[in-house]
Amino acid sequence: MLILGLNMFHADASAAIVQDGRVVFAIAEERLNRVKHYAGFPALAVQACLNAVGAKISDVDHVAVGQDSDANLAKKVQYALANPAKILNFIRLRQRKEAMRDVRSLLVKALATDPESLRFQEHHLEHHIAHIASAYYCSPWEKAAGFSYDGSGDFVSTMMARCEGNDIEVLDRVFLPHSLGSFYTMICEFIGYKKYGDEGKVMGLAPYGKDTYCETIREVIGLKNGGFELDLGYFMPLGSNQGMQISEDGTVSLAKHFSERMVELFGEPTKPHSEIPHRDMDLAFAMQHRFEEVFFHLLKELHKRVPMEDLAMAGGCALNSVANGKLFTETPFRRTWIQPAAGDEGLAIGAALHTYHSVLNQPRQYEMKNSYLGPEFADACIEASLRKANLKYRKLDREPLLAAVADQIAAGNVVGWFQGRMEWGPRALGNRSIVAHPGLPNMKDVLNARIKHREWFRPFAPSILADRQHEYFEHDHPSPFMLHVYKIRPEKRDQLCAVNHVDNTGRLQTVAREENPLYYDLIQAFERKTGIPVILNTSFNENEPIVCAPEEAIDCFQRTRMDVLAIGPYLALKTEN
Ligand SMILES: [Fe+2]
Repeated sequence: MLILGLNMFHADASAAIVQDGRVVFAIAEERLNRVKHYAGFPALAVQACLNAVGAKISDVDHVAVGQDSDANLAKKVQYALANPAKILNFIRLRQRKEAMRDVRSLLVKALATDPESLRFQEHHLEHHIAHIASAYYCSPWEKAAGFSYDGSGDFVSTMMARCEGNDIEVLDRVFLPHSLGSFYTMICEFIGYKKYGDEGKVMGLAPYGKDTYCETIREVIGLKNGGFELDLGYFMPLGSNQGMQISEDGTVSLAKHFSERMVELFGEPTKPHSEIPHRDMDLAFAMQHRFEEVFFHLLKELHKRVPMEDLAMAGGCALNSVANGKLFTETPFRRTWIQPAAGDEGLAIGAALHTYHSVLNQPRQYEMKNSYLGPEFADACIEASLRKANLKYRKLDREPLLAAVADQIAAGNVVGWFQGRMEWGPRALGNRSIVAHPGLPNMKDVLNARIKHREWFRPFAPSILADRQHEYFEHDHPSPFMLHVYKIRPEKRDQLCAVNHVDNTGRLQTVAREENPLYYDLIQAFERKTGIPVILNTSFNENEPIVCAPEEAIDCFQRTRMDVLAIGPYLALKTEN
């Protein structure tokens, strides 16, 4: 049975294909059309899914979309009537959503196929149920507490659920305009980070601040009966899309979130790309602090209703790895399974698996053990790309390749590491990564100057052999998808100085050999040379979506000051090119 899952006309449009209950292939459209956070129809992603299983769209039994414009309709109408200025916007959104309900026509057009040949049943699933489904149905658990939170989706920002067997029972929703995601976005915008997805950057700024505004920021978002409420005086009226605007070309932008009240309290907002005043560091600190307080409050409430130790979680806010790293000590939950594509691309998988288990009542047997669900490229294809780019390269067997790359990293060189299937979700986890020495004091600056050009305050992440985590980190819950930040043990901080953030933490990826043998063995080869079972891992890209195909990796290697490219079995050195 083939189920195609879709996230479309929403940020991070994506497609996933589920074959007999297993996620076989999944990809965000941005990786193929190279438009970051693309929010149109994921035509290329759908074709890639079908190619991966050798099927045509006429072979697909079900198509599931992680959005349901009828969900929470009464709440939407109630809100629109109370905010007359937003009614037109509301109607426009409804029309747009009506258009996107015609999945059949969209697929016919995208794939140039005969409409008569289509035989699939169509399913629409509420946004946050799809988020929770993307975590729970991929987890190894028979039952768990389910939690989803983000800016907004189908007029909801937060959902709590009890997950058991095939079912996800919704226990509670927080409706718009109240949104923990919008709270975070509003302050990020105020301090000059106005692009969709900038929130993750500002999380790295927070530990540079002090506790100056924690009390004041508490007023922006208050706790309420196990939920929370925004003080709307700090916000512009955002409407049912919470200020997210999608252009005809599928690009996403954000409307202004903060009101004049923020300006009265804190002074003028900061212009993008200007120097960061201490005020903004303190605001980032207070924002992250309050975010965590509300998050832990919500999780404690969820635990009261679903008293289990296991938490299945997704939604864009679930990418807040700092909060995730603390929840084991701040809440009664002891284990997490967080969907690696916790943002909206994950809806494609959630909708498809929900159809399989909840709608069609098929038994659960699948567990997502790694995130390598994207395309891979044959050696011949990689070699053709290297030739086309006129690069000098060597072909190496596995062991010599690992030894050569480990030597390069140990020598302080920056290596583009392109291997196997591309990762699903926003993190590079050792298949489309740039890797470097984690213990050289200048490595962060080198990476930024030569390739990444990131803000000075953003840390780089460590990949560590899973069985060595306890030696280096103060928490031992695994973090296979780089979604937890833990304190680095004091005695190891010097050894990991390039990945040790200002608050002595690291957003680690724990690498188990069975999940990625080649990457594990690379780290081990590096350890043999340096005594450090860790390498610095950052995504393989430069101001663009993470590279997907060999030619994108080669292009990034050629236009940046990357020293080495290890792509499949081939090794290219900048000094020889
Ligand atoms: Fe979402």
